[in-house]
Amino acid sequence: MADEDEAGNAGGTRGPGGTGDRSEGTAGERLRSARFPRSSRYHPDWIAGAVSGGANSLWLTEWLTEALDLRPGLRVLDLGCGRGASSVFLAREFGVQVWATDLWFGPDERLARIRDAGVEDAVFPLRADARSLPFATDFFDAVVSIDSFVYYGTDDLYLNYLSRFVRPGGVIGIAGAGLVDEFDGPVPGHLRAWWEPSMACLHSAAWWRRHWERSGVAHVTVADTMPDGWLRWLDWHHTINPDNTVEIDALTADQGRHLGYVRAVAHRRPDATPDEPIADIPLAYTAHPLLRDDPPPAAR
Ligand SMILES: C[S@@+](CC[C@H](N)C(=O)[O-])C[C@H]1O[C@@H](n2cnc3c(N)ncnc32)[C@H](O)[C@@H]1O
Repeated sequence: MADEDEAGNAGGTRGPGGTGDRSEGTAGERLRSARFPRSSRYHPDWIAGAVSGGANSLWLTEWLTEALDLRPGLRVLDLGCGRGASSVFLAREFGVQVWATDLWFGPDERLARIRDAGVEDAVFPLRADARSLPFATDFFDAVVSIDSFVYYGTDDLYLNYLSRFVRPGGVIGIAGAGLVDEFDGPVPGHLRAWWEPSMACLHSAAWWRRHWERSGVAHVTVADTMPDGWLRWLDWHHTINPDNTVEIDALTADQGRHLGYVRAVAHRRPDATPDEPIADIPLAYTAHPLLRDDPPPAAR
């Protein structure tokens, strides 16, 4: 087990002022944490070889699944799964069936990883857009989305759309980068070098709770922020992406005041019927006079 502080952060020493200077320690030590015992069993090279974003998808998946009741045989949509580490983790750790769905990363490399992990009978890779999903109504018991939902899920109508693929009473859970609290006005000075306009999609747990409750189709049971999540975020970058000094500097200056990991879990209301998607409205053309003085069409 790696050297860990009270908060369970793996590896390295803290610099003066507790800024999280984690330049010591191998990747293997860093990716081991008493806080994440399931994730810590996975080989650091396997984790690093499946990187598809700016976070440790196993840590986020482990945190999220602590708030879910996943049992063997359940059907799970892993939405925005990237290169599929979270999908393999879900199948191995909980015995669920996983539809490993992503847009940017193709399914072939993911399938090789799934086969190598020995879960090809339980994890099914496909490429699909979260806004145009190819599944049957009520098909899934659960949707899990790791560090991905912000790319499409802030749309006011999205939960309504997604929930129709989950059986009544089924669960939707997300975890990923977000805000500790919403801030109005300009971006705080210490975050400006890192912040881009697209980061407007980052939100707090309280924001997600309100956003989802307003949809009327789901009841939120969990919406919270990972304790010391910013340190895990920083750990990941020091380990996997140490050249990303702009993000490392922003996180270090922020000290968890604004940036962190957020999680939200909601259950589809059994009494709510999500809207049917509007695919095609059948129309037949009827001619009318264009101007008030025009003759009726038939007399022309
Ligand atoms: C930051 S990466 C996270 C990937 C992975 N879940 C992880 O944690 O490593 C964001 C993922 O969201 C996926 N994504 C973004 N927009 C999407 C969309 N419209 N439909 C499906 N996936 C989408 C991308 O393909 C990408 O893999």
